[in-house]
Amino acid sequence: MKVTDIPGLGSFGVFVDDVNFEDNDEWLEIGKLHLEKLVTIIRKSGLTEETYHKTISKWGRDRLNHIYRLFKKYSWAKGDAIKIYFSPFTSQEDKEVFEEYARIRQGGISDKYGNTLKISGMRDRDGNRIGMFADGELLWHSNESGDITFTPGVALLGVRGMTKSCTGFMTTTDYYYGVSDSFRSELDEMILIHNFTSGRINPGLNEPQDELMYKNMAPIENMEIPMVIKSPGGIKGLHYSYNTVTGIKGMSDSDAELVLSEVRSGLEKYTWDYWYENDDDLLVFDNTIVQHRRLGDTTNRLALRYAFDYTYLQSEPYQPYYQEEYRQRYIDNLTELASSREHNEIQIPSK
Ligand SMILES: [Fe+2]
Repeated sequence: MKVTDIPGLGSFGVFVDDVNFEDNDEWLEIGKLHLEKLVTIIRKSGLTEETYHKTISKWGRDRLNHIYRLFKKYSWAKGDAIKIYFSPFTSQEDKEVFEEYARIRQGGISDKYGNTLKISGMRDRDGNRIGMFADGELLWHSNESGDITFTPGVALLGVRGMTKSCTGFMTTTDYYYGVSDSFRSELDEMILIHNFTSGRINPGLNEPQDELMYKNMAPIENMEIPMVIKSPGGIKGLHYSYNTVTGIKGMSDSDAELVLSEVRSGLEKYTWDYWYENDDDLLVFDNTIVQHRRLGDTTNRLALRYAFDYTYLQSEPYQPYYQEEYRQRYIDNLTELASSREHNEIQIPSK
């Protein structure tokens, strides 16, 4: 395999070419490197719809928080989506979420590919879209950004129609260490307020389908999450997702906007867009202190998204927060989330 730096992301980002996915040790070594580099682009991966899940799930377990919470809500069904769907006690709104979930999962209702989701605007014979995040651009964001237990990693494998579009990245660490000491201490103390706001991730296009998914960006109103956190590899950076942050705790809206626009302009130079070179490029990126976006033409595009934690790469369970209060909130919320599963698979930090 060959590793080269990606330009434009500061100290982060690597291309990895000529990967031999048959070599388990090499694959785990790339995983460890990924924890240090945050953005990993494996060009011409050669992975397929059949081999992808088996490969990426060696790094960590998949997560889909809003679905896990629904399993928790209907705990009598013991994690059986079909039972929930056909029950007269299930709300119409939740039925629609499960219908959507079955449609956009790579394996439908089967667990063959876990929670690998199709990202696509393509339609099936009945005219239903087969994937989520249908069309158009997606502005800078991180997934589940307004959820204190956000899933830390994302892998995106291209399948077809990729090369007219791009996935862009923004890293935040070099900016954080580049500001004055006094501003850095302010950032360290800063608590951001997150809310779901319709239209803030996808300009113009807000179909009901996407609406359901966007809500999982910030399921609880006015969620407080610290600005400065650490990634699973222990790298300090900003958890500042443009689409869900609506203010700073203890600050007027106008002051908050002044501070946040200063941060946004400082982050601009740590952005870089990857225009897909091949249909089978595999992009793996940090979802804790890195933002991503989508540009270009997504007609007839199909990609597979695996959102995951780094269970098999990390030496201890991930704890994103520095402040005691939020560390405890994280543990409490993650424990709650983990209890939604019949088999408790989420690793929880002890402190
Ligand atoms: Fe995303």
